[in-house]
Amino acid sequence: MALPQNFLDELRVRTPMASLVGRRVRLSKSGRNWKGLCPFHNEKSPSFYVYEDSFHCFGCGAHGDAFAFVMRAEGGGFMEAVERLAGEAGLDIPKPTPEAAARDRRARDLHGVLQAAEAAYARRLHLPEGAEALAYLRNRGLTDETIRKFGLGWSGAGRGALAAELREEGIQQSQLLEAGLMQEREEGRAVDLFFNRVMFPIRDRRGRSVSFGGRILGDGQPKYVNGPETALFSKRRNLYALDLAREGVFRGASLLVVEGYMDVIALHQAGFGGAVAPLGTALTEEQLNALWQVSPEPVLCFDGDAAGTRAAARAAELALPLLAPERSLRFMTLPAGEDPDTLIRRSGARGFQAALEAAQPLSEALFGLIVGGKAPTAPEARAALRNRLSAAAQTIPDKALASEFRRSLLDRFFSLTKRPGLRAVPRHPRPEPDREAAQAKRARILLAICLHHPELLADIEEPLLLLDLPAGAPQQVRNALLAWVPEASRLDSDELIAHLASGEAASASQWVLKVPDLPQEAGPGGQPKEALDAFWQFFGFLRGEAELAEDARAAREAFEAQGDVATQTRLIRLTEALDALRRGEVEAEPNETIE
Ligand code: UTP
Ligand code: MN
Repeated sequence: MALPQNFLDELRVRTPMASLVGRRVRLSKSGRNWKGLCPFHNEKSPSFYVYEDSFHCFGCGAHGDAFAFVMRAEGGGFMEAVERLAGEAGLDIPKPTPEAAARDRRARDLHGVLQAAEAAYARRLHLPEGAEALAYLRNRGLTDETIRKFGLGWSGAGRGALAAELREEGIQQSQLLEAGLMQEREEGRAVDLFFNRVMFPIRDRRGRSVSFGGRILGDGQPKYVNGPETALFSKRRNLYALDLAREGVFRGASLLVVEGYMDVIALHQAGFGGAVAPLGTALTEEQLNALWQVSPEPVLCFDGDAAGTRAAARAAELALPLLAPERSLRFMTLPAGEDPDTLIRRSGARGFQAALEAAQPLSEALFGLIVGGKAPTAPEARAALRNRLSAAAQTIPDKALASEFRRSLLDRFFSLTKRPGLRAVPRHPRPEPDREAAQAKRARILLAICLHHPELLADIEEPLLLLDLPAGAPQQVRNALLAWVPEASRLDSDELIAHLASGEAASASQWVLKVPDLPQEAGPGGQPKEALDAFWQFFGFLRGEAELAEDARAAREAFEAQGDVATQTRLIRLTEALDALRRGEVEAEPNETIE
């Protein structure tokens, strides 16, 4: 029995991979993802990674989604996996009635209908009848490459043309009705929905056309017509260009939510490959969930005018009850009266980039959205505002996150609403930790890992060489270590330590080996895989965020060019190190100085 695609999609969204896998495999956090010992082959150190909607074992190559995991783990078939997960998610499996089976068959056929329509529209854009539409698009700054990438087209001038053309491909009027391309008028008379319009195919997350938007040339009402709800298309669930944005985000772009089709297209053309838009309605819960499957912190982009502020407030209200530690938002505001398309035309990609960089985390934007124009001074109004701020934080289900939000909102409240006389006493700034001592401690741990695990050196020689280590003992040990590698008969810890003890770096290497609080898994008894993880964590701290981000970018490029396992592993390591660094995880106490 064929299950409807949107049922399966819904079931995937409702089945968090980490908790599904977590019942069989002990998982630990690894950057944004989880990892553990692979349940499908025998291993001593973890190479089994769990992502938001899939798993992958770098050891045995096992790979798949939630259904695949249940099938492999329990040995059942696809339907059994679906039944089990649906039961746990509280979803009813659609009944296999003959009507449902017929509906599925038609739904599958509908993809073909939409594909044929898209091709017909695109063809017309390049025929003489489409000349005006093509000129319109070029005049709005779109390149031919962009026009092709987004599959833009021309509907034709009058009604009836599409049906006639597609009839030759064996497509019936009833199918055009089901595809949302024709509309039933009185007494069985059906007419084309789109005519005299530039056509924008709307694609699902896999890139298949599911509907269209059509824009009138120049001014006129309605400016855009969108296809109706169909078996394939739901306005609440789809996002324009999500298929392209998933790839853009994978390549490092920010996931950006803007208002219009043309904004999305202009952004992609300007290099912002993570842009998407809802389909002419306010953002929905389903769309937020779809966004979070792609990125933990999508950026919502709003016009700086009153309507934009209202839309931002609505989005914040929608998002709060859904927030979790890795499901957040940022808000960016455009100059009043601009949309991303006009901003890019006026000030280029740089202009937009500047606005993007100024995006605020939800916790910051929220305060402005709740307080509005200016903070009240009357005690009653202040108390009411304080209650509103607390209440907003209270709608976040995650307890720790809710209390962070509450504190951050109230901090702002107090600093903003304090009367001038009381503001005189500044809060004591926290003393800056001694950065130099901290760096020395980290270098010492990193080098100790290398001394205990020289077998890693093949993988980490290059990053070790690049690292900007503190002068003195750390550099001395590093140099002695790297000098030893080419002459060592085997990469053995005892041999290395003995070698160093007899040379110039003897006391420096003693100092390294005596480092207190060496993470246990990085010490002599630790597994190579764990020692390697620890190496990358300390590498991240020593390297610094900006450089690490640059390394990760370079690794991503190398991976895209070469696509081999070694570069992939390097990319994953760097990305994890960067994530850990940005979250401020895995910190050693900076209580040591260089001797
Ligand atoms: P805008 O009017 O801001 O669209 O509406 P835009 O993309 O900037 O249009 P251009 O630049 O004039 O071509 C934003 C979105 O709202 C929906 C469409 O999805 C549009 O992209 N909309 C707008 C409609 O569905 N119908 C309309 O009549 C207008
Ligand atoms: Mn516009």
